[in-house]
Amino acid sequence: MLIVFIGPPGAGKGTQSLRLTKYLQIPHLSTGDMLRQAKEEGTQLGQLAARYIDNGRLVPDPVVVSVVGERLHQPDCQNGCLLDGFPRTLGQAESLDAYLEERGTPLDLVLELSASEDELLRRLVRRAELEEREDDTPEKIARRLSDYRTKTQPLLEYYRRHGLLESVDGMQTPDEVFEDIQKRIKARRI
Ligand code: AP5
Ligand code: MG
Repeated sequence: MLIVFIGPPGAGKGTQSLRLTKYLQIPHLSTGDMLRQAKEEGTQLGQLAARYIDNGRLVPDPVVVSVVGERLHQPDCQNGCLLDGFPRTLGQAESLDAYLEERGTPLDLVLELSASEDELLRRLVRRAELEEREDDTPEKIARRLSDYRTKTQPLLEYYRRHGLLESVDGMQTPDEVFEDIQKRIKARRI
């Protein structure tokens, strides 16, 4: 089973991914986590990615596509996975489609999580106090939100046209959001 999570920073992709991967017993692929880990390890990829992540900018498509491609090749992903934060551009979506077509495993579902900008800001400011993520400053959050609107939101129409999109109200409590997601999955019998 292959599921994609799309949503602005702070929408709850990570929070819901943890629940959903446990529920569906599939691996969680968060490109943000993978790139941050590479940065921590100080690899060449990590050093390159840090220049973008730390400034709230998207990492170039070829870099992200190759990181995800490598991960998807691993044995634990052969029966599916949950992609959190990938794809984020039309170019990434097309690369993913080409890869999945070659593999003969199409996407099953794209979940959009949405929330008002005020709420997103409130959540990220609160998280900044607890977790210290380099990109959780007001200026970088604004850049991430703006990139989401211009580069990622167009994907919603792309996936809607393919009949894959379910839009979930991320303003509900985490429990309510998760219940909503489970309902959509059951209704689609995937
Ligand atoms: P990434 O790590 O994916 O960050 P993001 O998209 O900005 O999203 P966040 O992780 O901040 O938010 P989230 O939706 O996961 O929310 P969360 O559950 O944590 O990407 C980081 C960077 O990596 C990018 O900016 C880019 O540089 C690079 N990158 C990654 N993927 C890339 C790609 N494909 N292409 C290019 N570059 C890429 O929740 C947030 C907070 O809210 C938490 O504190 C949580 O407890 C709380 N919360 C969650 N749900 C609720 C709720 N329902 N009610 C109240 N509070 C809630
Ligand atoms: Mg996240």
